[in-house]
Amino acid sequence: MQTKDFTDLSQSSPADVQAILDTAVYLKRRRSQGINEQALAGKTLAMIFEKPSLRTRVSFEAGMGELGGRAMYLSRDEVGLGSREAVQDIARVLSRYVQGIMIRTFAHNNVLDLARHATIPVINGLSDLSHPCQAMADLLTILEHRGRLADQTVVFIGDGNNVARSLAQACVLVKARFVLACPAAYAFDAATIADFGPAWGSAVSQVHDPIAAVTGADILYSDVWTSMGQEAEREERLAAFAGYQINADLMAAAGDRAQIMHCLPAKRGEEITDEAVESPASIVFDQAENRMHAQKAILRLLLADDRDAVLTAAAGAAGLD
Ligand code: CP
Ligand code: NVA
Repeated sequence: MQTKDFTDLSQSSPADVQAILDTAVYLKRRRSQGINEQALAGKTLAMIFEKPSLRTRVSFEAGMGELGGRAMYLSRDEVGLGSREAVQDIARVLSRYVQGIMIRTFAHNNVLDLARHATIPVINGLSDLSHPCQAMADLLTILEHRGRLADQTVVFIGDGNNVARSLAQACVLVKARFVLACPAAYAFDAATIADFGPAWGSAVSQVHDPIAAVTGADILYSDVWTSMGQEAEREERLAAFAGYQINADLMAAAGDRAQIMHCLPAKRGEEITDEAVESPASIVFDQAENRMHAQKAILRLLLADDRDAVLTAAAGAAGLD
């Protein structure tokens, strides 16, 4: 990858995404053969969590272990980002102890400030703005299940939130189509639309009729209607998103070839029904597994001393050319 950090896909190129996917496919295949090269032996990842997590925490921690390194969990109260201590001081101190930082936080500026002041790689494990690690796992999952990424149509039903924004950016980078089906008040904001540049209106679009949106979709994607930090808006959001649920009616409108994804955790019965999560069309648990493979690739490319070696070994593994 061309950058020190992995903070938002607006900083990534198609070549970066290809390197991550090639490496992820390669590492996943090697792992299935019982081979986990210890490329991060002696290295430590500090993980700052200002919000709860299951997948992100466990997949990063287990992934570091499989690569021969270790991960350290730091809670919000311990670190006191910007309250107990200034972000730039935390960045400088951690840079003296460990070889990488993963942060899950509210304000995206915390991620950027940390990256700016740290001399080591900083990885965004979710901010209010974006969730780029999730989007890499999502692409890996789509690739595995559809055989290709270019020209796939991903329809995200719900809130134009962090997960939607990163997935839309990821789709542009691999020449897939992304449609956000959302209530008007929960659409992408002007800054996000401006960031899409010429892709807006072609590769990326938004509509307000979920049934029309899903016709011909390859992927139906959903996330919670109320993200972490928005709990006070829950009642208002429940009302606004009624009709934006992935359920039997929406699956029927999409047709047989559509597969179902969700970044999890899901509020079953709200944005997605039990029936949809459990249906044969659902690939949500493969998707959850792929968090680990995609993140091992990111860690290997950002933290290892031999990243050129893995790039050579993994070249073409994802078959994107
Ligand atoms: N999808 C995801 O990031 O899950 P967690 O919040 O459990 O980490
Ligand atoms: N949009 C959700 C994603 C959780 C993984 C949130 O930010 O809470």
